[in-house]
Amino acid sequence: MLVLQYVPNPTWGNHIPIFQNSGLEVRKYRYYDKESSDLDFVNMMKDIKDMPEGSIVLLHACAHNPTGMDPTLEQWKEMSETIKKHNLLPFFDCAYQGFASGDPNTDAAAIRMFVEDGLQPMVVQSFSKNFGLYGQRIGALSVVGATEEEAKRVVSQMKMVVRPMYSNPPRHGARIVTTILEDPKLTQDFLDQCKGMADRINLMRVLLKDKLTETGSTKNWDHISKQIGMFAYSGLSEDQVMQMRENQHVYCTADGRISMAGVTSGNVDYIADAIHDVSK
Ligand SMILES: Cc1ncc(COP(=O)(O)O)c(C=O)c1O
Repeated sequence: MLVLQYVPNPTWGNHIPIFQNSGLEVRKYRYYDKESSDLDFVNMMKDIKDMPEGSIVLLHACAHNPTGMDPTLEQWKEMSETIKKHNLLPFFDCAYQGFASGDPNTDAAAIRMFVEDGLQPMVVQSFSKNFGLYGQRIGALSVVGATEEEAKRVVSQMKMVVRPMYSNPPRHGARIVTTILEDPKLTQDFLDQCKGMADRINLMRVLLKDKLTETGSTKNWDHISKQIGMFAYSGLSEDQVMQMRENQHVYCTADGRISMAGVTSGNVDYIADAIHDVSK
């Protein structure tokens, strides 16, 4: 049976090959309007309504990569109702929990809303970023079952899929996360550090935007501080990105996505000058 997998346009580059390699036919739904550097909510809803029943729709749970633009809670509500009405399977990718608001609990709001609304989402979670455990390959796949019996069947199917792929997952990273989340003091440390990290990124966003204005740039950079999460989707073209690499040795992905984690009070002036230089 042909199953359609819808992903936002744009999305994290690896989503497409991952789903294709799983035998799904990948299609895109409109998500972001480059002209206004904003969420293209009206067209996204149109596309969702056009998806055939039974299709899987990939949603970034928070801090959308690469755009940094998330739906509001009201918009999530509309999406949840439409996805339910059209019998689609919501598939959340949650790779930046804590990066959007600074609080991992707040950032889980959309997933919780979908479950409360009676949907049965699948959720993939990564702890690479929010626990700084990139090298440990630590994440989780959660599926909401309608009944205990259904959940058991899903787990049994999953075991059949993973057994010939990787047999058993690595344990070390999972133990680190478990140790932290089972201890109230360590959990509080994690929450505090997560907030500190998100606040620093937001500060750098404002600083980068202000510095761009100071350079004399006449372009509108409001989206830099409006976006959330780890990335600034700058709007630079591939050509401008290449120029910035070659001339100023400032590196970002070809789609103009800047990792805000790499912006500091020490290099923000240099980066703003480089961006202005290639975009004026
Ligand atoms: C949206 C998204 N999902 C998943 C991942 C990968 O997570 P992991 O490091 O757990 O493979 C990333 C980034 O690396 C990402 O941006």
